[in-house]
Amino acid sequence: MQAIAITPGQAGSVRLESLPQPSLDSEADGRGVLVRVLRVGLDGTDREIYDAKYGAAPSGYDFLVPGHEGLGVVEAVGENVTELAPGDHVVAIVRRPGTSRYDRIGLPDFTTDDTYFEHGISRLHGYLTERYVDTPEYLIRIPVALADLGVLLEPISIAEKGVAQAYEIQRRLRIWDPRRAAVLGAGPLGIFASMVLRLRGLAVVTVGLDEPPYLNSELVEAIGAHYVSTKQRSLADVRREHGPFDLMFEGTGYSPMVFDAMQVLAKDGVLVLSSVTGGDRTTEVPSDAINLSFVLGNKVMVGTVNASRENFEAGVRDLAMAEAQWPGWLGRLITHRVAGLGNYRQAFDLLTSAHDAIKIVVEVAAGEPATASSPAG
Ligand code: BGC
Ligand code: ZN
Repeated sequence: MQAIAITPGQAGSVRLESLPQPSLDSEADGRGVLVRVLRVGLDGTDREIYDAKYGAAPSGYDFLVPGHEGLGVVEAVGENVTELAPGDHVVAIVRRPGTSRYDRIGLPDFTTDDTYFEHGISRLHGYLTERYVDTPEYLIRIPVALADLGVLLEPISIAEKGVAQAYEIQRRLRIWDPRRAAVLGAGPLGIFASMVLRLRGLAVVTVGLDEPPYLNSELVEAIGAHYVSTKQRSLADVRREHGPFDLMFEGTGYSPMVFDAMQVLAKDGVLVLSSVTGGDRTTEVPSDAINLSFVLGNKVMVGTVNASRENFEAGVRDLAMAEAQWPGWLGRLITHRVAGLGNYRQAFDLLTSAHDAIKIVVEVAAGEPATASSPAG
């Protein structure tokens, strides 16, 4: 079968490779689930892998199959699988257990190992291929009514984990009752974090670079968040006009923003950092003032990466809530669809240069005969 392949560390190496068809028996004890990939979303991590800045091939391969935001349909299950049946739509969890104590209790997203295993990113092939076999513990079932939107679940799970961490940490305050949130960044992650926080009833300001109106600002305003451009307002203005912020979620990809955010966080507030900044940028900061405000204000800052099964499940609930509350809104986030694995160049060109893109999706199954249970294609 076909797969898109990239040699990590080698720019311009994207191509098609062929892989053997996976077999149900590759998982022990009759616990295999054979999944046909329907569609895969692309994000900044795929772009970094494409740009040869990130990613690692599985052992025994000189290439990595990218794609970690995969929606598929179950084609067959082993004899000891009761959780899933053919026709079910599924999304696979990205990170798999390593060896640390967190990995051993089912929290590989908190691994302390230096090498980690992530499908489509690090040492495990991803979903830009035709089929894969996995076990039910790593597959999340998507209700059929949400099937098309299931491709958004993985990035939503990242926002869910960050917000869940904030609430978990703030139990220290016994009666924490957050009212106002600021989300820094209006890309897919910022939009999803805004969605998750709006669904929890917070007043949300989403701070982006570009001046409104444009699609991203319209989308966040459509769910009742305010959009503010840093070309028109400083973060200090934003705090004065919309703050103070009990919860802040940073997802701009621009690390100096973190230190600005630290200065506008409310007392007893929590700042969640989610940008994977692979560069080597440095910045000068007012360290006494920032430190003092953190100490006197009992503030917390936390980094978050990846997501556990629990966060994916919260994401499914929020997908359903968002679609019920703002019908059609989630679908508007999918701005570009590329038909088939063979159009990989078009997909990565869009990823690197389409300024109006929010979510680019590769319709992997396009062209293949659709089964009764896989609607679009
Ligand atoms: C993925 C996460 C992953 C992170 C770091 C993100 O794009 O969505 O699952 O943990 O990259 O590799
Ligand atoms: Zn991602």
